[in-house]
Amino acid sequence: MIPRVTVRRLVPQLRPGVASLRFKTTSASKDEIGHFQELAPTWWDVNGSQRILHLMNNSRLDFIQRIIRQSVKVEDPDTYIPGFQYKAFFPQQVSQGIEDDLDSKINEKLKDAQFNVLDIGCGGGILAECLARLPITRHVTGVDLTPDVIKVAREHSAKDPALSGKLEYRLQALEEVEGTYDLVTCFEMLEHVDVPAEILRHAWMRLKPQGILFLSTINRDFISWFTTIFMGEYVLKVVPKGTHHLTKYIKSSEIKEWFQENEPHTHKILDTKGVMYRPFNGWAEHDCPDIGNYFMAIKKLN
Ligand SMILES: C[S@@+](CC[C@H](N)C(=O)[O-])C[C@H]1O[C@@H](n2cnc3c(N)ncnc32)[C@H](O)[C@@H]1O
Repeated sequence: MIPRVTVRRLVPQLRPGVASLRFKTTSASKDEIGHFQELAPTWWDVNGSQRILHLMNNSRLDFIQRIIRQSVKVEDPDTYIPGFQYKAFFPQQVSQGIEDDLDSKINEKLKDAQFNVLDIGCGGGILAECLARLPITRHVTGVDLTPDVIKVAREHSAKDPALSGKLEYRLQALEEVEGTYDLVTCFEMLEHVDVPAEILRHAWMRLKPQGILFLSTINRDFISWFTTIFMGEYVLKVVPKGTHHLTKYIKSSEIKEWFQENEPHTHKILDTKGVMYRPFNGWAEHDCPDIGNYFMAIKKLN
């Protein structure tokens, strides 16, 4: 029987002012820290405890880069008339020509981009390292609350001299992070915290106007239980047992409702994609973001 949890779980359970006097509202639970501490030694083994995250990495990098490219405005009227469905009217060769032209204009605009990125719940750095290697990235700051995982992240990144000065890991609660970032990422982390609304609130505070928050988590439904817990943990055993708890999963509609309630005029959902693990074939995006795992991109408007 699947427990029913309402959207209220996303809403902070303590008034922030009161909460911050007593403890950090974005703290990780002891159980979660203990679990990830145990998994730390095999974090970078592509067939080890984090195999599923290694496999997911290309899909999330594709998602992030696609959204960034789509956010670049090309205003050259010779190339592009906004809203004109050229693919529907022109022969394939002509459409391809327009697309190539648009691509090179976007490349040109992104050539000088230098994004500062905050990766929340960075773990051992599977995503953070790749983000730091992108030519559009100036610097990535990864924060996490599991000490051994941060240690593994630091040791692993030290092996690549190209990452020197581009990537920094901190054992730090989100409340203690200062400054604002062009991009904030929070992948496969929200389903491991007690008060996800507080993570969202702080993640949003750390984002610059016009910045983009990228997140991924898991819908709370039967399909998710079947794929991520029953199949993933017990049948295929690609995820360590006890990693996931259905009651902590968050529906994509709840994230959208949270933004609607808390940031009604300052956000725009750029995209939400379902993602599915296909044994032997890795992860693939699909168009049903309301079941199973999903990626989401939210822009801060001002
Ligand atoms: C499944 S791992 C995901 C790691 C990384 N984001 C990735 O996708 O490769 C979840 C991570 O979230 C971290 N975490 C859990 N609760 C946290 C919290 N409240 N604050 C910061 N990190 C937390 C854990 O220590 C763990 O490293």
